[in-house]
Amino acid sequence: MSERHDAQHHEELLPGDFIPEQELLEHDFDGIQEADNPLPKWWVNLFLVSIVFAVVYTPIVHMFDLLPKDYLRRDLAQAAMRAEQREAELIASGAYDSDPVGAGKKYFGTFCVTCHGSYGEGGIGPNLTDNFWIHGPNENQIAAVIVNGVAAKGMPQWGPILGERKIKMITAYVMTLWETEPPTPGKKPEGEPFDMASIRAPKEAPSESQSATSDTTTKI
Ligand code: HEC
Repeated sequence: MSERHDAQHHEELLPGDFIPEQELLEHDFDGIQEADNPLPKWWVNLFLVSIVFAVVYTPIVHMFDLLPKDYLRRDLAQAAMRAEQREAELIASGAYDSDPVGAGKKYFGTFCVTCHGSYGEGGIGPNLTDNFWIHGPNENQIAAVIVNGVAAKGMPQWGPILGERKIKMITAYVMTLWETEPPTPGKKPEGEPFDMASIRAPKEAPSESQSATSDTTTKI
């Protein structure tokens, strides 16, 4: 093939220009013919540059691990440390004690949503927003399930992982869920039905049920 000739010829061609007959390839697919145009210069250059890039990049990144990954590791370690510090400060400030339900909700979001859903509506684990309970609706029963888990059914044992303090707060939050309405229909009821309104009713001071719920939870 007379490449030099073709290349010269094509430099004058613009997209959409008529391609002279002799530059069409022999074959023909139902009347569709293929032209033998050289690839655009920018494309060929990009191709060559990508090869050069790969030859430099692959050994540096994948074979000899020469990039300073320490920065990444250091940043991650620092972020983890900051999160721990913030948590320690919050605990020290008493913010968690004044809002155990809020703190419990946060922990629920970290440890429980994978199985019980973002709103407690259930999934792998049972729906916690309905009036049905497998292990009972009372504070000590809920706390006991969380602490001990139900190995045979896939509910993990959280006691050793989370410790008493966090479990108290999570229990406080779970106890508020019966009153909530998840945005999507929850998992179908499991266990026995309970009269939640009277179970969660304020025991001493006649106040709003919401604050009464958190009042009782502080007394595990
Ligand atoms: C790996 C999945 C999984 C995770 C994660 C999980 N659970 Fe469960 N949970 C279950 C299953 C399954 C059951 C049902 C146990 C049974 O049938 O006896 C259950 C049961 C429960 C129950 C008892 C419900 C009832 O009807 O008596 C409570 C309360 C509960 N989980 C709270 C939690 C909390 C709080 C967390 C986060 C700290 C959590 N679960 C994390 C799977 C999970």
